[in-house]
Amino acid sequence: MNQGNRDGFASRFGVIAAAAGSAVGLGNVWRFPYVVGENGGGAFLLVYLGFVLAIGVPVMLSELLIGRKSQRNIFGAFHVLAPGRPWFLIGLMGVGAAFMILSFYSVVAGWTMEYLYLAFTNQLATVSSVELNQIFSEVKSGAWRPVFFMVVFMAMTAFIVKSGINKGIEKYSKLLMPVLFVIIVLLCIRSVTLEGASAGLEFLFRPDFSRITPHVVLEALGQAFFSLSLGMGVMATYGSYIKKGESLGKTAISVSLTDTAIAILSGIAIFPAVFAFGIEPGAGPGLVFVTLPGIFSKMIGGYFFAFIFFALLVIAALTSSISLLEVVVAYFTEELKMRRRAATWLAAGLMTLLGLICAFNSTVFNLFDNTSSNILLPLGGFFIVVFVGWFLGHNIVRSELEADGRVARYFHLFLVVIKIVAPVAIALVFLNQLGLINF
Ligand code: TRP
Repeated sequence: MNQGNRDGFASRFGVIAAAAGSAVGLGNVWRFPYVVGENGGGAFLLVYLGFVLAIGVPVMLSELLIGRKSQRNIFGAFHVLAPGRPWFLIGLMGVGAAFMILSFYSVVAGWTMEYLYLAFTNQLATVSSVELNQIFSEVKSGAWRPVFFMVVFMAMTAFIVKSGINKGIEKYSKLLMPVLFVIIVLLCIRSVTLEGASAGLEFLFRPDFSRITPHVVLEALGQAFFSLSLGMGVMATYGSYIKKGESLGKTAISVSLTDTAIAILSGIAIFPAVFAFGIEPGAGPGLVFVTLPGIFSKMIGGYFFAFIFFALLVIAALTSSISLLEVVVAYFTEELKMRRRAATWLAAGLMTLLGLICAFNSTVFNLFDNTSSNILLPLGGFFIVVFVGWFLGHNIVRSELEADGRVARYFHLFLVVIKIVAPVAIALVFLNQLGLINF
C-alpha cells in the first residue's frame, strides 16, 4: 500500500466543497430539468426526493466510509476490506462507469462552452423558441466548435487531475460555488416573474400521480445517483482523502442538501420559462440550452449574466469531471502502478475518443447517459450498501462513523437502512422496471 504519499483535503470546508463540487454540476442544471420534464414533473420530483433521502444519503455515507477505512481507490478498497473475495468487481464496474459518464458529460460541457462563446459574442439575444431550437440543433449536430470545446474541456480536466487533489481544487470550489448559487437564484426570480410562469411552477410542484410508471421511478433513482455522484466510487475515492477527525455523517448530509437545493432551484429557474416561452417540457437533453438564453434575453444585464452563468457552469462541470477522472487515475496509479501523469493522459485520451463518438452519434450519447445512470450506478450502490451493511462488520462501521469523537446516534437507523431499506428499494425498482413484479 502506498499510503505515505496520499494527498488529502486540508480543511473541513474543503472536503465538503470538493464533494459538493463533484455532486453539483451538469447533473443539476442540465440533466435534472430535462429528466423532470420527460417524466411528468411534480410526481417525479417527489419520488426523486424520497430516493435522495432513503437511498442517496446512506449510499453516500457508505461510500465515504469505504474510502476512508481502506485509504484506497475504489478497486483496491475492496481488496483491502474483503481480500480474496469478488467484491472488487464493483470497483471495476465503477471504473467502467467513469469512462461512460465522462464521455457524454464532456460533450455537454462542450455545449456549455459553446454557449459561453455565443453569450460572449452576443449571439443568444432572442426569446423566439424557433430560433433557440435552431441554435441548439446546430450546436449538438457535431459542429466543429463544440467538439473542439469538448476536447478542451477534457484537457482542462486532465490538467487539474494530473496535478493532484491539491488546494487548487478546494480553493476554486469554495469561491465559485456560492457565486453560481447566487446567479441561479437571480434566474429563478426572473423566471417566476415571466408572464405565464405559474404553469411551470405547477408542473414542477403539483404532483400528478397518474404519471408515475415503473420507468419514471427508475429514472428518478438514476437521477438521484447521478446527481449525488454515487454508485461508482467517486465518494469512496474522496472519502479516502478525508482526515479521521472529520464527521462523515455531516459531510454526507451537507453535500446531499446542497446538491438537492441546486437541482430544485434549477427547476424553478427553468420550468416557468419553459411554459412562458411555449417550449416542450419533454424536449430532452436540449431543454436547458433552449430555455436559458430566453431567460437571459429578458433580464436587465442579461448579456452580462449569461456570460457569467455559463462560465460558472463550465467550472461546476469541471469540479465534477475531475472527480470522475480521479476515480480512474487513482485506480491506474495504485493498482496498475502507472505514473500519475501517464495515467491521467491515457484515461483522458480514451475518454475523449469515446466522447467524440457521443458528440457525433446521439444514439450512443443516449445509451451512455441512460445505461450509466439507470443501471450501472444503482447496481453499484446496491452492492456498496450490501457490502457495508452485511459484510464489513458493525464495529468497523461504527468506529469510522465515530472517528470524529462523537457518538453516532443515527447508527442503528443507518444499519437498518443500508441492510434492508436501501437494497430492497433498489431491487424493487429494478424488478418493477423489468416487469418481473408489478405494483
Ligand atoms: N454529479 C455530477 C453532476 O451532477 C456528475 C458526476 C460527477 C457523477 N461524478 C459522478 C455522476 C459520479 C455519477 C457518478 O453533474
